[in-house]
Amino acid sequence: MHPAILETRNLTARFGGHVAVDAVSCTFNPGEITAIVGPNGAGKTTYFNVISGQVPASAGAVFLAGRDITRWSVARRAQAGLGRAFQLTNLFPNLSVFENLRLVVQARQRKGARLLQRADSDHSVLSATQEVFERVRLTPKADQLVTELTHGDQRKLEFGFLAALDPVVFMFDEPTAGMSADDAPVILEMIASLRGDPAKTVLLVEHKLDVIRTLADRIIVLNNGVLAADGAPADVIASDVVQDAYLGRTLADV
Ligand SMILES: Nc1ncnc2c1ncn2[C@@H]1O[C@H](COP(=O)(O)OP(=O)(O)OP(=O)(O)O)[C@@H](O)[C@H]1O
Ligand SMILES: [Mg+2]
Repeated sequence: MHPAILETRNLTARFGGHVAVDAVSCTFNPGEITAIVGPNGAGKTTYFNVISGQVPASAGAVFLAGRDITRWSVARRAQAGLGRAFQLTNLFPNLSVFENLRLVVQARQRKGARLLQRADSDHSVLSATQEVFERVRLTPKADQLVTELTHGDQRKLEFGFLAALDPVVFMFDEPTAGMSADDAPVILEMIASLRGDPAKTVLLVEHKLDVIRTLADRIIVLNNGVLAADGAPADVIASDVVQDAYLGRTLADV
C-alpha cells in the first residue's frame, strides 16, 4: 500500500494555554481536493501553518510522502513539494512581473539541470513562464512592475508563483477572500485545473459552500481545533456537525 502523500498524526498546536489544533490525525491523497471547513477560530489556518512549518508543532507529527518533516524548516518543506501561495514580499520590486515569474520558473527547472542543457532550458523556461501567465490571465500585465498591479492581480501573481513552483501538495487558505467577482474565477479555474491530476493533492480552506460543492472531493471539519468530521461532501454537509447551529449558520450564510 502506498503511504498517503501527506499525513498529520495527532498534530497539535498550542498558544499558551489555548489548543488551536488538537491532536488532528488525517491523511491526504494524490488526486484529491479536500476542503477544510469550520467556524472562525476553529484552527484551520493554524493547521496549515503547522503543516507548512510557519508554526511549530507542540505535539504530533507531519509526514510528507512517508517522511517525518515535523522538524523541517519552511524552506525545506517547500523544496520537498509542499506548496503554499508565495509571499509577494520576496519579489524583486525593480523587475517586471514577467521577470519575477521567470526567475521562479528558472529556479524550479534548473534544479538538477546540467550546463550543457542551458540553451534548451532557456527555451523551456520561457514557454513555461508564458504558460503560467496565461493560466492566471496576467499576460497583458507582464511588463508592469509588481507594485503597479492591482490587489487582485497581485493575488493572481501569487498563484502564478505557486503554479510555477509546481508543488506536489497545494495549500489554499480562502484563496478568493478579498478578490473581486472578476478576479475570483481565475483562481477557482486554476484550482479546478488541478482536479483529477492524479499527481496533485489539494487542501482548500474555504467558507463558500458553492465553491466547496464545485471543487471538493472530500470535506473535513475542524471545530475547536478538533477533527469533527471527514467524508464525502454531500454526507458531511448533511451531517449533524455541519448542521449544528453556528457552523450551519456560517455555511448557510454564503
Ligand atoms: N500566532 C498565534 N498566537 C496566539 N494565538 C493564535 C495564533 N494564531 C492563531 N491563534 C488562535 O488560534 C485559534 C485558531 O485560529 P485560526 O486562525 O487557526 O482559525 P481559523 O479556523 O483559520 O479561523 P478563520 O475562519 O477566522 O480564518 C484562534 O483562537 C486564534 O486566536
Ligand atoms: Mg483562517
